[in-house]
Amino acid sequence: MSLPLLQSNVPGIPVRRGKVRDVYDLGDRLVVVATDRISAFDWVLPTGIPDKGRMLTQLTLFWLDYLKVPNHFISTDVAAMGPAFAAHAAELNGRSMLVRKANVVPFECVVRGYLAGSGWKEYRKHSTVCGIGLPTGLTECQQLPSAIFTPSTKAESGHDENISYEMMLQGTGEKLGAELRDKSLDVYRRGSAYAATRGIMLADTKFEWGQLADGSLILIDEVLTPDSSRFWPKESYQPGKNPPSFDKQFVRDWLETTSWDKNSPPPSLPADVVDKTRAKYIEAYEKLTGKTFE
Ligand SMILES: Nc1ncnc2c1ncn2[C@@H]1O[C@H](COP(=O)(O)OP(=O)(O)OP(=O)(O)O)[C@@H](O)[C@H]1O
Ligand SMILES: [Mg+2]
Repeated sequence: MSLPLLQSNVPGIPVRRGKVRDVYDLGDRLVVVATDRISAFDWVLPTGIPDKGRMLTQLTLFWLDYLKVPNHFISTDVAAMGPAFAAHAAELNGRSMLVRKANVVPFECVVRGYLAGSGWKEYRKHSTVCGIGLPTGLTECQQLPSAIFTPSTKAESGHDENISYEMMLQGTGEKLGAELRDKSLDVYRRGSAYAATRGIMLADTKFEWGQLADGSLILIDEVLTPDSSRFWPKESYQPGKNPPSFDKQFVRDWLETTSWDKNSPPPSLPADVVDKTRAKYIEAYEKLTGKTFE
């Protein structure tokens, strides 16, 4: 196991650091480097999860190949990114993608197949999720009659906010909005059908789409990873109970046991929480791809 990469460093190239990814700007292309940073409750933690960035990148590549949906991917070859990147190949290999730069659609395209998280909270109060009326009497984590599209805003800072499809249309217009909804639902349905054959339930997920200069839509960012989705192991699923998930649950649970107030820099993670979290990411990767993570 290698040391976690908390920040990449490629001198001379403009970079924007998100919570997890360092995004280098090459003009009409980007190099997206997935670091080993982990965030929880909208904070980046001071401790990294070794190899997490590699797993997220490899899983996204796996899905893009499986789904065959138009997307931003160009190459994983560090040499193709230019000499500044090639000089740091050891650090960047496996976690970096050369992609087409797109105009990011300013909405998160969330698809839910099950009633969990903020969807369950809203349903309990109003029998709706993002304003979509649902049958009464559903329990927590129950499968919805069919998957629903529940967009949210992309907040520059702080929490993204759930909005109705109609509110999204005010920003995107009818045509682009319908395309975002239909394509997101299609990718979710195909992805979750495949995941089910591998023992993983895809409860919900968030896609990001971008537009090229000609207006065509491409799938960008990460795709169907534990960071962008809620994965549940099929064997422990039981409607009415929130199943353990393949993601940062250990981290969130542990943080809840500390005195951290979620309004100040978070504490470092103990080694066993790091190990368990890393094992969860590996398990998700291996189950979905059928490959062994090296
Ligand atoms: N092909 C692309 N074209 C333009 N932007 C992209 C593309 N692919 C990914 N991005 C952007 O790169 C960033 C990835 O970084 P990361 O996921 O760490 O950010 P984040 O913390 O989730 O979000 P943000 O910093 O945007 O609030 C996101 O802002 C995403 O929208
Ligand atoms: Mg992101």
